[in-house]
Amino acid sequence: MLCISAEEFLFWKKKQLSKGGDQQSFAVLLDCIGGISTNDQNLVNINPKKVLYFKKNLVFLESVWDDHLLNSCPIQYLCGITFWRDLKLKVTNKVLIPRSETELIVDIVFNIFRKKSEKFFFAELGTGSGAISIALALAYPLSEGVATDIDQNALEIATKNYKNSSKQSNLKFFCGNWWSPLESFKGKLDLAISNPPYIPRCTYEKLPKEVKNFEPKVALLGGEDGLKHIREIIQKAPLFLKEKGWLILENHFDQSEKVKQILIENKFTAIEILKDLSGIGRFTIGRYK
Ligand SMILES: C[S@@+](CC[C@H](N)C(=O)[O-])C[C@H]1O[C@@H](n2cnc3c(N)ncnc32)[C@H](O)[C@@H]1O
Repeated sequence: MLCISAEEFLFWKKKQLSKGGDQQSFAVLLDCIGGISTNDQNLVNINPKKVLYFKKNLVFLESVWDDHLLNSCPIQYLCGITFWRDLKLKVTNKVLIPRSETELIVDIVFNIFRKKSEKFFFAELGTGSGAISIALALAYPLSEGVATDIDQNALEIATKNYKNSSKQSNLKFFCGNWWSPLESFKGKLDLAISNPPYIPRCTYEKLPKEVKNFEPKVALLGGEDGLKHIREIIQKAPLFLKEKGWLILENHFDQSEKVKQILIENKFTAIEILKDLSGIGRFTIGRYK
């Protein structure tokens, strides 16, 4: 345990941020490796007499920060942790770092199933770190969920995250291609959710290096036009959803109208395009008949 005065800390922090990077990533580093919560980081600004107790010394923290700046490796992978909604999730380069815009999927579900005591059966396709499914399983303890991914390594991380976040047992994980591990649940789902890989190939090739060099390609690339996986998920959804069951999809900034069309072609109704906090049509939702 290393004890540092607020003054010393603020001077050191300023020096680190002057080298580059953003405040938010620096806060993640301080919290996850330094052991200084964001609350304590903020209190330092209003209480200069405060003393901070670090779990690691500043030389070590500085070496991680320099690695992040030099190699563009996301700080979440270097720390092995990310924060998403109220969850603290383990992440490695086997899973996509769950994005803040995806947090809204949980709010969309809250608007559909308004009582936390509701009992429904949901599936998440392509769960990655497990973020969405874990948030839903925790929020609706009487509901049951199943979450799939094609990558067994991702599922191992999702399973650990679920065990670390919850003592419940209302979420199960299955490995396989989209709907295929869920054959025994045909016609039983009230809700299916997916944030599938949706980046078109030409956009993928031009992604910033902190994404392209570190995050899994299988989590990002959506075929030539970005819609390969979305098409497959929508086309098979009617076999698995109950009548009037909901499908919620996240898509790329310019895909909503196309996704809406694919939903219409597959007999979905009540289709809506919902915006993210930047005003982008990021989610397309509908009901099966
Ligand atoms: C964009 S990431 C979303 C991860 C997580 N749900 C989130 O929102 O942060 C897409 C996920 O779909 C998985 N995936 C890709 N192709 C798949 C397939 N054919 N079947 C099932 N999962 C797949 C990837 O491994 C990845 O975890």
